[in-house]
Amino acid sequence: MSKKAKIKIAERAPLKLVPAVAPMPPFVRVTKNEKVAEQLEALFENANDAILVVDLKKKEIAAANLQALELTGYLRSEIVGDSVSKLFPTNRELPEHSQGLALTHLENSGFFEDLVLQNKDGMYRFVSLSVKVLSLGRNHVAMCIFRDVTEKKNMERELITKHGELRNAYLSLEKANAEHRAMQDTLVESGKLAALGELAAGIAHELNQPLTGVKGFAQEALATIPNEKKLESIKTCLEEVVKGAEKMERIITHLRKFTRKSTEDFEWVDVHEVIDESLVMLAKQFRSRGIEVIREYGSDVPKIYCNPFQLEQVFINLATNARDAIESKRAGRGKIVIRTLRHSSKIVEVQFEDDGTGITEAARSKIFNPFFTTKEVGKGMGLGLSITHGILSRLHASIIVESQLNVGTKFVIKVPVDYRGH
Ligand SMILES: Nc1ncnc2c1ncn2[C@@H]1O[C@H](COP(=O)(O)OP(=O)(O)OP(=O)(O)O)[C@@H](O)[C@H]1O
Ligand SMILES: [Mg+2]
Repeated sequence: MSKKAKIKIAERAPLKLVPAVAPMPPFVRVTKNEKVAEQLEALFENANDAILVVDLKKKEIAAANLQALELTGYLRSEIVGDSVSKLFPTNRELPEHSQGLALTHLENSGFFEDLVLQNKDGMYRFVSLSVKVLSLGRNHVAMCIFRDVTEKKNMERELITKHGELRNAYLSLEKANAEHRAMQDTLVESGKLAALGELAAGIAHELNQPLTGVKGFAQEALATIPNEKKLESIKTCLEEVVKGAEKMERIITHLRKFTRKSTEDFEWVDVHEVIDESLVMLAKQFRSRGIEVIREYGSDVPKIYCNPFQLEQVFINLATNARDAIESKRAGRGKIVIRTLRHSSKIVEVQFEDDGTGITEAARSKIFNPFFTTKEVGKGMGLGLSITHGILSRLHASIIVESQLNVGTKFVIKVPVDYRGH
């Protein structure tokens, strides 16, 4: 591009240029043409970046443009002709990851980031600096172009602080989550004890029956022993004794497994077996209250991968709630329908439907909250459904409730066949 063309550009926007208010140092003069020199000075003066020309021999500031005055806070008369060291930070304690501007930065051409410069008020500014060392006649000068990055730096720092705060918040959330899980585990354990209390009457009844048999047959065997011809009868008695003992053994083994803290005992489980098992101990209570249990089991329901004792706890909770709802309706008899179906190849659906009191609109949103109960003091702890919810959510299963006041309630559970791949 010719000189003429350059001048043309300057001519096109002459009004925007602030006239240079101080003459350039003589060695910066590159032309004898006054007009051109004036325009070059105006360009220097109005540059977007702060420019300082430093006389390296005298270590003085030879020229400063408007942005440089803005950056340093000095008037031109206070800075031009004065030592450049007035811009060097005096305090040795500089912000982290930064260096103070020093003479060494000005003596060779180069580029520096995150330098700290001290302004007239003694405040620090973060700058990036580009230095070009020039020989002009006998003078050795450094043309220093500064860019103020203080705002950007402050934002960066704020971002780092915010990031730290966010991390801390995340860590405390993780901690709260772990505590929540631990609390749920405890709830499940205490829920087991509560369920055990529920089952105590059933257990006593179930064990008493085979025990009566064991005792009776043993007594009969004893009475038979003197009569040698009745060996056949002794055999029958002993067989009954063994049968009764086996039944008691089965109940005791089941109880033991149920009460064991076994959160990791996962296996492939037939959901019907688990439902049947949970009803065994409640059967007597249902009979004595005139509650009929109808099982409508689907024929193609796949097995599910879960901890059978936890699932049993879910069904015991639902069955006891249905029992209580029917009982407090005071309508005499009632019925519970337990339905299973293959919802899809990957989901098993289980429904517990009763014709009890139903749940009020207001209570419906709270029933899964721990300690929410509408039962009288000493009857319900309000833990059954929250434990149920906890157990099911670990299996990635859902539970919803449909209910109509004075008509009944239906709980619908959808359990993935294998929660690990869900
Ligand atoms: N089948 C149902 N019919 C009517 N109301 C129900 C039914 N199931 C649950 N509820 C309501 O939900 C509440 C909470 O049930 P949840 O099983 O969590 O606690 P609870 O039965 O009161 O006490 P807990 O189970 O600890 O012995 C019950 O108090 C009852 O009001
Ligand atoms: Mg309950």
